[in-house]
Amino acid sequence: MATLEQQSHDAPPDDGVRRRDFLNVAAVSVAGVGAVAAVVPLLTQMAPSADVLAMASVEVDISKILPGQAIKTSWRKQPVFIRNLMPKEIAEANAVDVSTLRDPQTLAQRTKPGHANWLITMGVCTHLGCIPLGTGEGENRGPFGGYFCPCHGSAYDTAARIRKGPAPKNLAVPEYVFSSPTLVKIG
Ligand code: FES
Repeated sequence: MATLEQQSHDAPPDDGVRRRDFLNVAAVSVAGVGAVAAVVPLLTQMAPSADVLAMASVEVDISKILPGQAIKTSWRKQPVFIRNLMPKEIAEANAVDVSTLRDPQTLAQRTKPGHANWLITMGVCTHLGCIPLGTGEGENRGPFGGYFCPCHGSAYDTAARIRKGPAPKNLAVPEYVFSSPTLVKIG
């Protein structure tokens, strides 16, 4: 079988055109294969793994959290605080003049209607990401009774709003819904 080199030597003058056509087709085909090869791993990479799907949301039973107590759970590998506020803590949060806050938000804006006692936030300090204290029994809740970050002293109130220290924002409130009066689905 003649090689391309031989063909180019042996070919009649007008065959040069056909050879260029062949080279063009070959180049396009190679580019096509290259594109498919690049797309397949990309799609595989973009498809969420079973692990990721399982972590996309998490359901938490809150029936055992008594007023005044809090728990630490996790969602997407990050800590989440769920706190059952006492009436006194709700009153303290509502008594604050929101316009004086660094990150002005009411407790109502940070909870669900009819569930003002359930304060659900990320357990990640908005300064540099430490996990604040305040969920465990007897843990330091700081001067505003909410959470206290031991890393650089940020203090959060009973609505988990930043009140003192270097953190710029309130503890973030994740997406969640009450799937029943005692079950919360986060994410
Ligand atoms: Fe919380 Fe710095 S990380 S105060």
